[in-house]
Amino acid sequence: MIKASDFGDDFLWGVAVAAAQIEGASESYGKGPSIWDTFSKRAGKIKKGHQPTHTCDFYHKYKEDIALVKTLGFSVFRFSIAWSRILPYGKGIINKEGILFYHRVIDECFLNGLIPYVTLYHWDLPDALEDEGGWNAYSINDSFNNFVSICAKEYGDKVKNWIVLNEPFGFTSLGYMLGVHAPGKTGLTNFFSAVHHTAIAQADGGRILRALVPNANIGTSFSCSEVIPYTQSDADVTAAKRIDCLMNRLFIEPALGMGYPGADWDLMEKFSIQHSTWRHTERLTFDFDFIGLQNYFPLTIKYNAFIPVLQAWEVKAKSRKKPHTAMGWEINADSFYNIIKQFASYPGVKKIMITENGAAYHDKVLGNHVHDPERIAYFQLYLAALLKAKSEGVNITGYMAWTLMDNFEWAEGFNARFGLVHTDFKTQRRTIKDSGFWFQKFLHKI
Ligand code: NOJ
Repeated sequence: MIKASDFGDDFLWGVAVAAAQIEGASESYGKGPSIWDTFSKRAGKIKKGHQPTHTCDFYHKYKEDIALVKTLGFSVFRFSIAWSRILPYGKGIINKEGILFYHRVIDECFLNGLIPYVTLYHWDLPDALEDEGGWNAYSINDSFNNFVSICAKEYGDKVKNWIVLNEPFGFTSLGYMLGVHAPGKTGLTNFFSAVHHTAIAQADGGRILRALVPNANIGTSFSCSEVIPYTQSDADVTAAKRIDCLMNRLFIEPALGMGYPGADWDLMEKFSIQHSTWRHTERLTFDFDFIGLQNYFPLTIKYNAFIPVLQAWEVKAKSRKKPHTAMGWEINADSFYNIIKQFASYPGVKKIMITENGAAYHDKVLGNHVHDPERIAYFQLYLAALLKAKSEGVNITGYMAWTLMDNFEWAEGFNARFGLVHTDFKTQRRTIKDSGFWFQKFLHKI
């Protein structure tokens, strides 16, 4: 059985959350609407019509919730700043109440002996900027840079650990290609232009933090999944390579100065030829102090001629009779190990932090308890895989569980519960799940 001490004394243990998923008060205290506030009001976009208006009400309950992070034994609290709480229109007027709110959150972390890790963009673009084209507009980069400078100047004395973007592939693919996340746009043209502006934002954000925050530890977080070909046929293997280009390589390679992974996929090559500025890799490059990795599942990919462009199809865990969580995501800790090794093999990656990992289950409160043995088993398996990679010399400096408490899971609404703490969304009552107590024990706090 693994122990926290196996990871070393200086290994950081944390939990992660995101503003739009937990704060609530979504259009009060001077906050402007984000694309998620607007998108969730459109019929049929979010399961059961759920909206993030109140969600966990962290805006009012932050003291209690931050105390919970400490109670569970963690030393890091990762949260994000809602851009439209600071700048209700995305640029221009600054909302003082919003500025003060994050000062209170940061101060509360220190009161509880926690290290804040602040994400600058966790998917909640100010709606006013989407009206200008959002991540498709050339102007988005100036707006984002302005937001980053404001946050760096305001909080940089207190906050030293920064994550520029959360899962750039996640929000550009789901929001600008598939249309299932805000802002609900579709198509490859939207996708690739969003990708390019996002890749610029990632590097520009790093440069601004470096210039404005002395002694900053600057990272950015990527979603990642080992991509496994369904068979070893050439067709399946090349289909898997295309998905790997998108899922795993699309944002890290430009950040490392390698440009987009065009050589392995002609479509990407075509796009970067069309947009000749994409070849200017310098602006896309930034020397991050650490890379955040967020992994939940691997993908098994099969060639499929009927899927436009990608010609690839995921063979789901369920149909392969593999263990999976309530999201249908395959539980496969070996793939966690493999994808960590894949990212660690880039010579430019200095330090890795796991900035998200976790599992959703259909949890129920029974009496005062939530029994979630599957989630405990998931963490045990994944942490053992992490330890294996670490003991083989990968420079992994921390692990953050997703997530502190059940919250607004984007298009899934409140139906997918990932928390270590159960949230009753009607009463706002928090109940620590068995997995929360498991972490508490694991981290030696009881
Ligand atoms: C990725 C995202 O960063 C986070 O917001 C989401 O809730 C989790 N993964 C689970 O899907």
